[in-house]
Amino acid sequence: MTNEKLMSEDLKYIFHPCSQMKDHENIPLIPIKKGKGAYIYDFDGNIYLDCISSWWVNIFGHSNEYINNKIKEQVEELEHVIFAGFTHKPAIELAKRLVSITPKQLKKVFFADNGSSAIEISLKMSFQYFKNKGESRPLFVSLQNSYHGETMGALAVSDTGLYKDIYSDILLKTIQAASPSIVSETEALKDMKKVLQEHKGKISAVVVEPLVQCAGSMKMYNPSYLTKLREICDDFGVFLIADEVAVGFGRTGSMFACEQAGISPDFLCLSKGITGGYMPLSVVLFTNDIYDAFYCDYNEGKSFLDSHSYTGNTLACAVANAVLDIFEQENIIEKNREKIELMRKLTQPLVKLPNVKEVRQRGMICAIELQGYATERRIGLTFFQEALKKGIYIRPLGNIIYFMPPYVITHEEIAKMVGVVENLLHVV
Ligand SMILES: Cc1ncc(COP(=O)(O)O)c(C=O)c1O
Repeated sequence: MTNEKLMSEDLKYIFHPCSQMKDHENIPLIPIKKGKGAYIYDFDGNIYLDCISSWWVNIFGHSNEYINNKIKEQVEELEHVIFAGFTHKPAIELAKRLVSITPKQLKKVFFADNGSSAIEISLKMSFQYFKNKGESRPLFVSLQNSYHGETMGALAVSDTGLYKDIYSDILLKTIQAASPSIVSETEALKDMKKVLQEHKGKISAVVVEPLVQCAGSMKMYNPSYLTKLREICDDFGVFLIADEVAVGFGRTGSMFACEQAGISPDFLCLSKGITGGYMPLSVVLFTNDIYDAFYCDYNEGKSFLDSHSYTGNTLACAVANAVLDIFEQENIIEKNREKIELMRKLTQPLVKLPNVKEVRQRGMICAIELQGYATERRIGLTFFQEALKKGIYIRPLGNIIYFMPPYVITHEEIAKMVGVVENLLHVV
């Protein structure tokens, strides 16, 4: 099998996500044969350093031996079982562990199977919480430039026009408040208060991506905004949903981004890194108060009847437990500190280049914003193609080149990753 042969078979049948398929008339699709550690291997023998952890999920790289063994053990025992009326050990263990490592007011776990579904669940639960208490609060507030996924509810609270605008006629009505990643913290907080005041009694929840708006050009803001936002949500009696689908599990330097603000949200949505890229899984954690609002006799009609066929998939839960084992056993958060500093040291000087507008970093996320290129040039695509020739896989967001490497990346590999991009910055 060669790349060429597999590519042409693929293009006969498959419509890929977040892709203009016509692009593949000129840009080869790359069939991947295997992965090991921070590397992926294609069918023609090329090797690429996966600098974005395959859409931010493979936090411990590819084909991790420890996780492989855990999944093999689990598959011999139980691969999946319906999660309504039945339960299993991996889910119980995972829920218990997640409650113990997340902010302390979060006591209960609801399972789903992707990040967008976790957002849907948190929105539905917020709305129904108030409905169960006799109030109708149909509005949700999110931040400008936010991204929360692409199912209809998640898209409705997102603000990335590229994915959302075309569907605007059929989406839930939501409000976007100013983002601290774009305006000052003071202005953003003022705007949030204004929105909450104007729609008092109609808003169920505010949903935010703590510290980094990843799909929104990797724009970042300080933990102090979150601390104050928590207070404001309490003052106005609305829920705070923390969407840590992208930033959870060590990505911003702490296990969860909310820790840096010292806050406990009412809902915490997690996915991506939770299974280290092995299995689709997401969870929503929430408070006992929220749980209690749905706890009643069946005929009272207050049950939360959301479900997905793969809810609480056993293999996925076993893998998530293995991921947590690795965090504990290998002291990952501590070990990442040196890698974070090395990325900082190597990327900060790039800001002096005329084609670099800004270099920003939060933990294991580092973004280089380019300037001075015409939009038609699709400069991100050029960087992607040129870096690939040097064995570096990046997937820029427009004119933002970013690194979100797996935590198994070595110091030498970090140097290579940044070095390749630095050289390209001089010539592209
Ligand atoms: C912050 C955030 N929320 C939600 C999602 C949606 O997750 P999924 O792609 O698993 O549906 C993403 C995906 O990138 C995300 O970055």
